[in-house]
Amino acid sequence: MKLCSVLLVLAMASVCNGQAPKIAPADAPSMIVIAPQGEPGESLIVTGRVFGPDNATPLKGVSIYVYHTDIRGYYSAETTNSSNPRLRGYIRTDDQGRYEYRTIKPGPYPQARVPAHIHYVVSAPGYREKVFEIVFEGDPFISSDIREKAKSEESMFSLRAARPDDKGVLRCVQDIRLKKE
Ligand SMILES: [Fe+2]
Repeated sequence: MKLCSVLLVLAMASVCNGQAPKIAPADAPSMIVIAPQGEPGESLIVTGRVFGPDNATPLKGVSIYVYHTDIRGYYSAETTNSSNPRLRGYIRTDDQGRYEYRTIKPGPYPQARVPAHIHYVVSAPGYREKVFEIVFEGDPFISSDIREKAKSEESMFSLRAARPDDKGVLRCVQDIRLKKE
């Protein structure tokens, strides 16, 4: 069996297991739309750039996997299991390290005091995988513990502002620094 066939089988097996892949296809775009037309919730556009360890050199072709709950706090039909989220996207950064996705602002998990969040898995060969989540300023479920942790770059929390632009669309910026393996 050729390598590409093996990879295809592995990819299909992972989908059959109900586990979404965590790496973007090599030809994934740098700008994507996650939420379908009519998805309930406030429109949100997240933009950012991925840099190398010097926090200045843009990294091209970095894989970004993002996923989040719907406005009711569910990853897919009536479940908070995040292994196969409905609202997810796969991105590769452009020549300038840029990326953008359009979606809706997620809701917090039902019956839990966990802030609404967007998960990130960022990976590139030769760099340490970065796994974290955006939480939004003003969320009532952000504890002082989360706020404190978010001050560290190594934290799994990134506390970001989401502010409306002149069209009323929420805008959020999330830059990312990758470290060498
Ligand atoms: Fe989550």
